[in-house]
Amino acid sequence: MLSWAVDAKSGSLDLAGHLAGAGMKYGSMILLFSILLFPLTLPAQNGNNSPAAPNDPVTLGRRLFQQNCSVCHTQATLTNPMYGPSLYRDLVNGREDAVRDFIGKGSDKMPGFRYGLKASEINAIVEYLKTVPKPAQRGPQKGEGPVD
Ligand code: HEC
Repeated sequence: MLSWAVDAKSGSLDLAGHLAGAGMKYGSMILLFSILLFPLTLPAQNGNNSPAAPNDPVTLGRRLFQQNCSVCHTQATLTNPMYGPSLYRDLVNGREDAVRDFIGKGSDKMPGFRYGLKASEINAIVEYLKTVPKPAQRGPQKGEGPVD
């Protein structure tokens, strides 16, 4: 990022030198600078716009769940069947260890996350799931039912 910014800067400095020679005003050069640097600063701002504390396990867990699990465990539209069962707190409460274990190992139908996620991250997902209320039965669902 740093070297990019430096490259872009020296690149535009050259350009600005030419333009200044051609009689360009200082103000327009500032404008040119901000236009040139704008795309470089934009992704950096979008990277972490979460207002919540980064150490909050529920927030972390929700984000990890959306990234890794929601493709199978949340229903995208009313008519889309889900591949996996919906997950919520009643399913997790009191059997946290078994759930952590299951997420790590996976099953025939679900990939294990032992190598993809740290133990602390799996734990954060479990903490997040413990905040999720039981969803209303909305549409066709597949894979519902106890695993063990
Ligand atoms: C490729 C689709 C897929 C992904 C991705 C996936 N799962 Fe699953 N999951 C399933 C399926 C299917 C089942 C049903 C279990 C079975 O039949 O083996 C399941 C079952 C479970 C269960 C057991 C539910 C119960 O009834 O005890 C838990 C907990 C679970 N998943 C958590 C997760 C978590 C957490 C993630 C993300 C880190 C995740 N899953 C990612 C498909 C998936």
